[in-house]
Amino acid sequence: MSDSSSLFALSPLPATFGAVVADVRLAELQDDAFGRLYDLWLGYGLLIFPGQHLGKEQQIAFARRFGALEVEFGELSNLLPDGGVRSASPGQEDDMMRAIKGNMGWHQDSTFMPVQAKGAVFSAIATPDTGGETGFADMEAAYAALPEAKQRMLEGLTAGHSLAYSQSRLGFGKETDSKSMFAYGFDVGDAPRRPLVKVHPETGRKSLAIGRHAFGIDGFDDEESWAFLEALREAACQPPRIWAHQWRPGDVVVWDNRRLLHRSQPWDMRQPRVMWHTRIAGDPHMDGGLGGIGSPSTRPQEAAGEA
Ligand SMILES: [Fe+2]
Repeated sequence: MSDSSSLFALSPLPATFGAVVADVRLAELQDDAFGRLYDLWLGYGLLIFPGQHLGKEQQIAFARRFGALEVEFGELSNLLPDGGVRSASPGQEDDMMRAIKGNMGWHQDSTFMPVQAKGAVFSAIATPDTGGETGFADMEAAYAALPEAKQRMLEGLTAGHSLAYSQSRLGFGKETDSKSMFAYGFDVGDAPRRPLVKVHPETGRKSLAIGRHAFGIDGFDDEESWAFLEALREAACQPPRIWAHQWRPGDVVVWDNRRLLHRSQPWDMRQPRVMWHTRIAGDPHMDGGLGGIGSPSTRPQEAAGEA
């Protein structure tokens, strides 16, 4: 690749995106090196840094180099404060587990907010023996792979985005504790409306914006819209456009939330999985919705949240 790659030991993933960067200490990165890393990030969409073991403040500081933060810090963990494991049994989930289960569907962070996220830094503190990977899917490559007529058809469509809606599809209602971090995203007044084809604010490239928070495509009824989006996701999230990172404690990743979908993959939830999340804010002019469309109809009654 370019000069940018020569500074780092970069191993591209066997996919249309993503690279592992093995020889860098993120906590000690100089500004000029960060500039080159940022260019690589825009090019690859996902950078994986094994074995960093960043502290909380180090993670926040690293994320801040990508831009202002939307969410400084959140812990996604199936452990209770006393070290016990949270219940994953259907109907017994607390707000955290509802959020964790919701995150298992392909999505982009904060598309349900007035401004969607630019990206996120995510790191592993405790990981299960197997499973619990984070899956990523390249929506630029998915768009590029579509026939021209389908591209044009999708470019004419928009959808609302709502966390209350996407959680309600899983039977999860409103959060039980309005003060918890998982209340975030449920109090958006009018659901933002977004084109199904997004133009990347920095690269100018087009991608599919079809994550699980999308609902109510123009001219479709609720079920038609959901089925249409599910079919799009199913077709889009296929090799070589997908990659799942198998975590080890200390790993750090940073992804471009304007290009990639992501999800967590299942694991034996009797085993701990503790992850740290820092969310980078999007550009209000380029990552905002098209305008409010009124509250979506949610299916069941209550709600839960998502980090
Ligand atoms: Fe997410």
